[in-house]
Amino acid sequence: MRVMIEEAVKSIRGKTSFEPKIGIILGTGLGQLVKSIDEEISIPYKEIPHFAESTVESHTGKLIFGKLSGKSVVAMQGRFHYYEGYSMQEVTFPVRVMKSLGCDLLIVSNACGGVNPLFNHGDVMLICDHINLLPDNPLRGKNDDSLGPRFPDMYNAYDKEIIELAERVALQHGIGVKKGVYVAMSGPCFETFAEYRMVRNIGGDVVGMSTIPEVIVARHSGMKVLGISIVTDLCFPDKPQAVSHAIVIKAANEAEPKLTKLVEEVVREIEI
Ligand code: HPA
Repeated sequence: MRVMIEEAVKSIRGKTSFEPKIGIILGTGLGQLVKSIDEEISIPYKEIPHFAESTVESHTGKLIFGKLSGKSVVAMQGRFHYYEGYSMQEVTFPVRVMKSLGCDLLIVSNACGGVNPLFNHGDVMLICDHINLLPDNPLRGKNDDSLGPRFPDMYNAYDKEIIELAERVALQHGIGVKKGVYVAMSGPCFETFAEYRMVRNIGGDVVGMSTIPEVIVARHSGMKVLGISIVTDLCFPDKPQAVSHAIVIKAANEAEPKLTKLVEEVVREIEI
């Protein structure tokens, strides 16, 4: 793994000496944030050794390096999902590369379904904790101690101080935010209504198919994390509604400006 990371970093370093401090992963329908980045260089995934290629239509696969609100960032436009058939190591490889490039913070967004009955379409939720129902963990297997500890602590997985900062910034800019627990299931089918009920009963507020692997690896490598979910559809078992990828994309696109503003302002305010 270390050799693969070094090869990817070497290839990127052959193209740019830009030193990002913040890594950003944009979820389904949420890629517009990159337009706010004053771009230095963008590198297609296919030009980076060991990077997988995004197979979901709505994701364009490239790394974008540049300044966002005065800070040096690298954004992944398009992420890898477990349901695409990638291994957990492939899904999380870009996070390892971000860390090696110098990132100390990961900001990760996703589109998700709301199971908390107080949630609405288009809500922005700051992730406070997660429940991993994916059938694998990116840290399974031999641990490379040079990358992180065998048994990483998930205390403060979603950094409390950064959540407080995000809440403060949201209030200042009139962006309503919820807080809650993100549950990941493998997909690619959306969950059944019995599964939505289960997600709610075990303590989830939203459900999606991503984010947790990247967060686990970011924490393993010592990066801080801010996770933001956009509620694109409501998954209330007592009031069943149909969902489709098109509905998710449309709702994510509509809610995007709030996410963009929030991330821009958090990045501006954060000390890193
Ligand atoms: N489940 C339900 N609704 C969703 C999901 C999901 O995984 N992702 C986006 N909306």
